[in-house]
Amino acid sequence: MDLFDKCQSFHRARELMEAGMYPYFRAIGDHDCTSATVGGRRVVMVGSNNYLGLTHDARVVEAAKEATSRFGTSCTGSRFLNGTLELHEELEERLARFMNMEASCVFSTGFMVNLGVLSALVGKSDVILCDRENHASIIDGCRLAFGQTRKFRHDDMDDLERLLRDCPDSAGKLIVVDGVFSMNGTITDLPSVVRLARKYGARVMVDDAHGIGMIGPSGRGTLDHFGMLGDPDSGVDLVMGTFSKSLASIGGFIAGSANVVNFIKHHARALIFSASPTPANTAAAMAALQIIEEEPWRVETLNRIVTHVRCTLNDMGYDTMGSETAIVPVLIGSDEDTFAFWKMLDDRGIFANPVVAPGTPAGKGLIRTSYMASHTDDEIARVLAVFSELRAVREAPALALAGGA
Ligand SMILES: Cc1ncc(COP(=O)(O)O)c(C=O)c1O
Repeated sequence: MDLFDKCQSFHRARELMEAGMYPYFRAIGDHDCTSATVGGRRVVMVGSNNYLGLTHDARVVEAAKEATSRFGTSCTGSRFLNGTLELHEELEERLARFMNMEASCVFSTGFMVNLGVLSALVGKSDVILCDRENHASIIDGCRLAFGQTRKFRHDDMDDLERLLRDCPDSAGKLIVVDGVFSMNGTITDLPSVVRLARKYGARVMVDDAHGIGMIGPSGRGTLDHFGMLGDPDSGVDLVMGTFSKSLASIGGFIAGSANVVNFIKHHARALIFSASPTPANTAAAMAALQIIEEEPWRVETLNRIVTHVRCTLNDMGYDTMGSETAIVPVLIGSDEDTFAFWKMLDDRGIFANPVVAPGTPAGKGLIRTSYMASHTDDEIARVLAVFSELRAVREAPALALAGGA
């Protein structure tokens, strides 16, 4: 058998392209944060993770330019050897303070944080307890780790307890959860996770890629949301974050106690054997962090916008799947219906993302919309008007597949 046989018989993407319903790898011409030009047409962007709209903030852009002028375009090496700038260390100190943890370590992407941390910490005799709907980078981190992974049903504390009870006493245990689930926009039941962790002697890691800069009174994420941030005894041992969402850059970090972060720094292969974040990315994330600290009204504005969107979509009869955050999914169903609905949005100048299996359970395809503090009232009104118009078509998606849109 030829290794490439699977590539010759992979037709799904081409079929969707031929049907004019291929929603991936869309090239964006220009971009002003809340709107963009795609295929020569102007679209309203409700498909990004730029929750605070800081990618185009003049202070963030200027910080990236200045860092490039000062340090060059790349560090050309890993944090471990020649790739650590004072800038990286300053950002680590500020992130640790922001998350009220002793220390943090900056990686080149959030994906690499999860790969590096899980494989560094979880040895042969250890067990990871992983929510089934955790992000792909956690799932892959679990695959890389030498210990066993046991998955519990999404946000199901009884199932988590059952798995904890079955763990051997001798095993080191790590419960890993997303703070905000990236597809349905719900918030994990962190207080219950911590309660079970205490009962069974497990450690807790929260991936707060989406939560940081999005939820909590001061935008510090899931711990902030539950009032656990200022508590030195919160029971959360590690918080992972990314710069690729509210922090308007690319890169990621892990925050925790000084000795655990130090261990990770010396054992995480995704950190040690890969080049460090560029000066521009590091400086941009630091500038965005400062804005989040100084301008908490941005998180309030975001919450006002998403509350309005969610309530309006619910009133129209859409199922927003219990979302509590700036990620507002709309449940559609089959893959075909989901792609057809996406196409109708796209035709009407709305950039949103279709998500089908394996990103969702089979038959539970959804349109993932997400909002920014910088969206204008007019843009939000336009998005809602299109959803309102499509409500009727939603009842008969086959119409759309047949070109009825
Ligand atoms: C929950 C979660 N964790 C981790 C990541 C990876 O982050 P990054 O984009 O920095 O690699 C993402 C990105 O989509 C995410 O949604």
